[in-house]
Amino acid sequence: MRLDRILWGATAVGAGALLYGALFEAHRVQVRRVRLGLPGWPIGLKPLRVALVADFHLCDRPSMRTALRAARLVVAEDPDVVVIAGDILNYWKAGCRAEVARLFQGFAPFRGRMLAVPGNHDYFGGDAEWLRPVLEEAGVVYLRNEVWSHAGVEWIGVDSAMARRADPFGALLKADPSRPMVVVWHEPDAVLSLPRGIDLMLSGHSHGGQFRTPWGWAPARSKLGYRYVDGFYPRAPVPLFVTRGVGVTGPPTRLFCPPEVSILTLGPVSESLHEA
Ligand SMILES: [Fe+2]
Repeated sequence: MRLDRILWGATAVGAGALLYGALFEAHRVQVRRVRLGLPGWPIGLKPLRVALVADFHLCDRPSMRTALRAARLVVAEDPDVVVIAGDILNYWKAGCRAEVARLFQGFAPFRGRMLAVPGNHDYFGGDAEWLRPVLEEAGVVYLRNEVWSHAGVEWIGVDSAMARRADPFGALLKADPSRPMVVVWHEPDAVLSLPRGIDLMLSGHSHGGQFRTPWGWAPARSKLGYRYVDGFYPRAPVPLFVTRGVGVTGPPTRLFCPPEVSILTLGPVSESLHEA
């Protein structure tokens, strides 16, 4: 009898926590500001403010509302560059491209440049290349195993590893190694396959675990988002920052793991890491 009560109590607390996460936490987008000290970053290059967002997982009205909230926060921060690290969509369905266009209207007041790479979900039920017209119409540089030279940096956008479309070495061959190199690749654990000498990799995909205990343990981890889940990993094979992302997959809830817009200031290693 007592065990029954304990089990019922635990179930009620768990269900209540998930409901709280679905109604509130999953939509409270935070701004996380982090200064990244990078060993290879040229001393003379002006520190670069990058807004990193990922994993909008657009599929319905709540996901659009949260994504537009993130866009407003990005615009208010007025960064030098906006990086979108994949999974703009949850899956393809009728009207998807109009939804993506609507999201980028939210970014329209931003006057700087934006880049995007595909994530695995951008292939669910369709092809990530179908995003190109709507992204380019919005002024977004869409990189699928391609390089973009901007603000003194080689931005190397790698296609989704989980979709088996990644060609990091083909992309790296197109980059000028005399300039700082930043790889944008949706799946963070893919960092293990990169050669040394790259200054930074930016990722999403893991959602920070999406559900965490109060002490930060994330039991539900995604494939290729298992080892590197959230935040800065300066001692990864290539210095790596993983954003918790904006949207959700699976149960539409988050726990102790709110969505975020990451505002990263890239500079030399003397610019020590801190969060503000
Ligand atoms: Fe993903």
